[in-house]
Amino acid sequence: MKEQWFVPYRYKMVEKISIPPKNERLSILKQGGFNMFSIPSEKVYIDLLTDSGTGTMSDKQWSAIVSADESYAGSRSFFDIKKAVKEIMGFEHVLPVHQGRAAEKVLNSVLIKEGMFVPGNTHFDTTKAHIENAKGRCIDVTISESENSTSDYPFKGDLDIYKLEEEIKKVTPEKVAYILITVTCNSGGGQPVSMQNIKDVHKIARKYSLKLFFDAARFAENCYFIKTREIAYNNRTIREISNEMFSYSDGFTMSSKKDAIVPMGGLLVLRDVDIFDALKPFVILNEGYLTYGGMSGMTMAALAQGLYESTEFDYLHYRIGQVKMLGELLKEASIPIVTPIGGHAVFIDGRRFFPNISEEQFPAQYLCASLYEAGGIRTVEVGANLADRDPDTGENIRPKLDLCRLAIPRRSYSYEHMMYIAETVKEIYKNSKSITSGFQFDFESKGIRHFSSTFKLINSKRESLFE
Ligand code: F0G
Repeated sequence: MKEQWFVPYRYKMVEKISIPPKNERLSILKQGGFNMFSIPSEKVYIDLLTDSGTGTMSDKQWSAIVSADESYAGSRSFFDIKKAVKEIMGFEHVLPVHQGRAAEKVLNSVLIKEGMFVPGNTHFDTTKAHIENAKGRCIDVTISESENSTSDYPFKGDLDIYKLEEEIKKVTPEKVAYILITVTCNSGGGQPVSMQNIKDVHKIARKYSLKLFFDAARFAENCYFIKTREIAYNNRTIREISNEMFSYSDGFTMSSKKDAIVPMGGLLVLRDVDIFDALKPFVILNEGYLTYGGMSGMTMAALAQGLYESTEFDYLHYRIGQVKMLGELLKEASIPIVTPIGGHAVFIDGRRFFPNISEEQFPAQYLCASLYEAGGIRTVEVGANLADRDPDTGENIRPKLDLCRLAIPRRSYSYEHMMYIAETVKEIYKNSKSITSGFQFDFESKGIRHFSSTFKLINSKRESLFE
């Protein structure tokens, strides 16, 4: 029996899904200005918009919910989280928040002063927006391999150590609020960061007396890649790797909607008690008291249990294996995907998929829309639309890659669904070279524009996006 056929679950509950007729799908797209966020979820057959808050909870998480404690102060469910964080990440000081961006808001409100910088590996969009909102600026120091969608470098989320040090010297260490490592690097294609690189960044941080934080939304998936790709860690357990990885950081923000497999929740965790104390009032004002921070006891109980489950090797092996399987199906059909295949998603290179749609006409966004029309599959663009404008010059930022992200929810879809997705992509690809025009903005929203901007077709006479 092949190892990859090992599924460490069986189903106890199902949700019915269906697909609207094809002509209805095109009109739904047009009504929503071809923005994927405007499609009602019940009109979606397979939802790959995000892996955030879309995972399937286990029987143990549901049992934890039933026995959760809903106290305002001193909730037992909060102490369950503290225990899990201590065991898996090794930290004492935990602040609960309602989701990842809330942790970013609190952290950046305190650590960033006007004109400060946060170097890191391709900051996630809400992270970047919160840093800029606090009047700071991001510096992207990801290694150059990340710009090449066909390179097979195993840790494309790594930071360029030389560039990092140069940037610190250039802006001066006093102007660096902290260094941020995103594990895995979502905006860079779900690519992992190696333990060696984390150690090297830690050394630079110490050399210049700077704090090092992690954006730990997908920390467990990063640990899986360290275990399977970094020889020194092959025989270590995921939790041992996690403990070592976090030992190099001064704290982390976490959207628990990913690797803690809960619909809502977040954490802000600190090593330094002074920073912890300084952040507390912001949590109380913005999120809630220090033992719930915007989460219900039920959410906290499920989150604590989720942290244990997502750091089990068989879960990770199946989860990342499923993403890999989809990627392999596409690769076999010569679909231009980003390699190596990421942890939570397969990313298709829009510019190579539609080589005759110019870069200014959003080829990756066009692929997202085509996938919905062709198969009722919802994905999201991680490219020219998401990259937005430079906050200082107002110019459109030209991203290294223009990608369509197929994010796979945890424990939610089957092998047959993966086959269906691959067949739908292939169907569009057959004809992709004959498509010569894409989209232009109909309405461009100001600030984190990809959530609410709308598009119109350059060739308004098209009756199908891909046929
Ligand atoms: N950091 C990373 C790396 C993320 O991927 C996300 C969210 C956040 C922070 C913010 O967390 O949504 O809980 O406020 N990513 C989702 C996605 C939305 O689809 O990739 P949040």
